[in-house]
Amino acid sequence: MTAVSLTINGRTVNAEVEPRTHLADFIRDTQNLTGTHLGCEHGVCGACTVLVDGVPVRSCITFAVTCSGASVTTIEGLDNDDVGAELRAAFSREHALQCGYCTPGMLMSGRDLVLRAQTPDEHGIRVAMSGNLCRCTGYVGIVRAIQSVIAGRRSRGIGPLPGAGRTALGPAGSGHGQSVGTGDVARRAVSVGAGEAAAAVSVQPEQLADWTPQASFDQSFVLHHAIADVWNFFGDTAAVAMCLPGASLSGDTGARHVAGKMRIKVGPIAAEFHGSAEIDRDPATYSGKIDGSGRDQRNNTATRGAIRYRLLAVSENTTKVELNVGYRLTGPLAQFSRSDLVHDIASRLIAVFAQNVEARLGGSEQAAAPAAELNASALFFSVLADLIKARFRRLCRMATGRSGD
Ligand code: FES
Ligand code: FES
Repeated sequence: MTAVSLTINGRTVNAEVEPRTHLADFIRDTQNLTGTHLGCEHGVCGACTVLVDGVPVRSCITFAVTCSGASVTTIEGLDNDDVGAELRAAFSREHALQCGYCTPGMLMSGRDLVLRAQTPDEHGIRVAMSGNLCRCTGYVGIVRAIQSVIAGRRSRGIGPLPGAGRTALGPAGSGHGQSVGTGDVARRAVSVGAGEAAAAVSVQPEQLADWTPQASFDQSFVLHHAIADVWNFFGDTAAVAMCLPGASLSGDTGARHVAGKMRIKVGPIAAEFHGSAEIDRDPATYSGKIDGSGRDQRNNTATRGAIRYRLLAVSENTTKVELNVGYRLTGPLAQFSRSDLVHDIASRLIAVFAQNVEARLGGSEQAAAPAAELNASALFFSVLADLIKARFRRLCRMATGRSGD
């Protein structure tokens, strides 16, 4: 546990926290300030936005220990704030909320914008508020509400505050110069945008079991080879890695704990995950598991994944491979972690993998030179093309009055 001392809504708080505790969990669970909402919990939706030293931050990816010495303001702390009051009235007037889940984050970010915006320019407001997502309203009321508050204040002669009144340079909450014990580790994690990332950097094999996947899915494929041959092949880690586009191993590939890297390209983003994996196999049940984690230095994206597999003999020369894949992705590439998208891309990746395994088991050299990089964009666009084709087929059926698939 680490001692932390900070101000929350003007009240001094001294506490002992786990270094991994996020600010959002700290203020909700220990301070009972539940107006701060948690949506995506990886820095995308903005529902958890609070002010740290007057600057909006995502409290779901900010460690509580890094806020030692800082002044934190939550939505409850805006009760007597004049901009907060104007925004609440405007949100109500303009029907800028429905379920209200995004509203605390919208008000925190909106307040920052009201303070610094020169004019109530709609485009500027949409861009400035693009880090706060709302699933209900369509944003029209939200934009109008913020516009009206900015316009009202400027018409009353209240000018914009450069930088919304910030005086400190650097990341929000920095510059207090306090030693917070393990805070250096925590700060590094904040700079990469996600708490899990720091853990992934130094993850030890024995820690790999202690995590929960963000999402998981089942997948299977069939190989036209006897179960014993497939089982032996799966025991050859280097050969298996050769079948996975973008993957390569280093060091002792025969060990239970292996190191390696995976190159992946999503649009303009190219990532190279370096990491390690722990492999377990149970010959009695023809099953195994691979637990791995990796981190890309350039994009500050970290990942953890677990693959469970089981082989089933369908016939003498046919084997079904059943997979369960669980994963967690944090950092910039986490925007691609929506489970349906990942599932579709992974399905195609697994199809390529199955083809390569089939070829290698058949003695073909075709799979000997795997793709140097997994091009997720190509996979993504093939997913998109399939969706468009399906939609087009449906439209044709509707036009011709046919039913069924
Ligand atoms: S919950 Fe923090 S950004 Fe979504
Ligand atoms: S009002 Fe429901 S998410 Fe914004």
